[in-house]
Amino acid sequence: MIKRILTVTLFALGAILLSAACASETGKKPENKKENKNMKTEGKKLVVFFSHTGENYNVGVIEKGNTHIIADMIADATGADRFEIEPATPYPHNYNECIEKAKKEKQANARPAIKGDKNIEDYDIIFLGYPNWWGEVPMCVYTFIEKHDWNGKTVIPFITHEGSGMGGTDRKIAGACKGAEVAVGKGLAVQGKVAQENQAAAQKSVDNWLNDLKIKR
Ligand SMILES: Cc1cc2nc3c(=O)[nH]c(=O)nc-3n(C[C@H](O)[C@H](O)[C@H](O)COP(=O)(O)O)c2cc1C
Repeated sequence: MIKRILTVTLFALGAILLSAACASETGKKPENKKENKNMKTEGKKLVVFFSHTGENYNVGVIEKGNTHIIADMIADATGADRFEIEPATPYPHNYNECIEKAKKEKQANARPAIKGDKNIEDYDIIFLGYPNWWGEVPMCVYTFIEKHDWNGKTVIPFITHEGSGMGGTDRKIAGACKGAEVAVGKGLAVQGKVAQENQAAAQKSVDNWLNDLKIKR
């Protein structure tokens, strides 16, 4: 009798697991496969980015940030204008000090003041770039985002990293840029070391990505 109850229970459990697995395959598309039906491929373009110079992970002391290099490649290829998000108080040159400051800002969900501004209202397509900081967007990027009305804009994220890739930050951008069509799952992730030290390879990634997106100059 006990054996029979056990067999029935195991079978029922198996059936539940199987139906759950099928449901996840045939169910709602995951967010990163979103079709972005309202995504624009033509119009006025802007590249907005934040990038840290000085001592950086895996690349030593750099004069031009990894994300900055990719931002320039995108702007050159698409004819976009560019705007660099610069914190009013720059992040420290020293890597460990930069880490400490970034950690405190992340913990506090801070919105550090930034220098200047750019009127994004004039643009249709905005490429938004930043480094991966623990699977988060650096807080100063949110400062910029929250100053603007993103309704009707197409936002295309790009990131540099040292192994974590996009790390779900594109979904965070989608949550922050309210009313925008954010290209979740279609952003570009380039390793910082490649951006810094193998620019031919980085350029190829940028060009292939723009071709796939069908973004016209
Ligand atoms: C505060 C901080 C946190 C970081 N966290 C990560 C991480 O979680 N994953 C990762 O792959 N890289 C991480 N990195 C490395 C950067 O994403 C990488 O070096 C990036 O290319 C830096 O770009 P930038 O020169 O434009 O600032 C971190 C770097 C810093 C300074």
